[in-house]
Amino acid sequence: MKKPLIRTAKTAGFCFGVKRALEMVMKALESGKKVYCLGPIIHNRYVLEDLSGHGVRFIENVEDAVDGILIIRSHGVGRDVYEKIESLGIEYADATCPRVRKIQMLAEKLGSSGYELILAGNAEHPEIKGIIGHATGPVFVADTSDELIELTEKRIKDSNCGIALAAQTTYSPDIWKKSVNYLKRVYTNLQFFDTICRVTVDRQAEAKQIALRSQLMLVIGGRDSSNTRKLSDACMPICRTVLLENEDELSNIDFDGITEVGITAGASAPEAIIKKVGVKMSEILNSTEEMSFEEMLEQSFKTIYNGEKVRGVVTAIAPTEIAVDVGTKHAGYVPLNELTDVPG
Ligand code: F3S
Repeated sequence: MKKPLIRTAKTAGFCFGVKRALEMVMKALESGKKVYCLGPIIHNRYVLEDLSGHGVRFIENVEDAVDGILIIRSHGVGRDVYEKIESLGIEYADATCPRVRKIQMLAEKLGSSGYELILAGNAEHPEIKGIIGHATGPVFVADTSDELIELTEKRIKDSNCGIALAAQTTYSPDIWKKSVNYLKRVYTNLQFFDTICRVTVDRQAEAKQIALRSQLMLVIGGRDSSNTRKLSDACMPICRTVLLENEDELSNIDFDGITEVGITAGASAPEAIIKKVGVKMSEILNSTEEMSFEEMLEQSFKTIYNGEKVRGVVTAIAPTEIAVDVGTKHAGYVPLNELTDVPG
């Protein structure tokens, strides 16, 4: 009988934006002050329950945070929210992901340059609402490729402004590419800004590669997480795909005849849950892998020691820091005051 095989995506788990947001919450907790998050800081109920256990309070109104530190979540918020926070003199930490911030700034700039903005994404998602809250001109949102094309054609007919298109950071790279390719062929006067997060692109590409070699693909993450759902949508046409939030849900899955399984996870899925799913699945399949799931997971990441010189790729630039991918599980951050262009 063929040995059951489990392949785990190297890109599974927290992205640098989520990790950064959680670090800000932990730092705020260390101050001993009350810590408030405006809405769920990330879309994963286990992480939220854990933070609640540490005393973090999730609120919907800025006014409720006057006696503590308010954390703005990674999805970002509109300009009006900053104005309210400042008018009330509330202490806050801004965990808006630098990649989301970039789109907010784009929306500001396009409006003041006389452009309308069409966003590819989910109009109800907090990231999109936050971007709209920074726009200085008209913004329209469409989700599917058909809707995006139809909306763009309508705006071309009805509008006298320039038209620019950008996407939610977790938008499907395939749908974006398909829509843009069509629009570029037919219209020459549109501006396109591919603002899909590189993490999303890489994660989906790797998940699809693994799905091609698997009979079953497990996607771990919150059901309300946009990037987790998009990951699952990307694998679904390739092989049987199941979205699950934790290892207990494995008991609902039929593993009959399955010998090759792929695992990936959304950007807000904690490593502990990814490990638990892998371990439990190994038990179910009675996997005879030469390496344990933990060993495979650990081995897929480079270890860096203090004092070691490393080469990295700058993946994001924010006004106060840069994010650098150095091949480890988590992105590195270099604060502005530690950056230098002096060799050595
Ligand atoms: Fe940011 Fe990309 Fe994560 S936009 S929050 S790094 S998925």
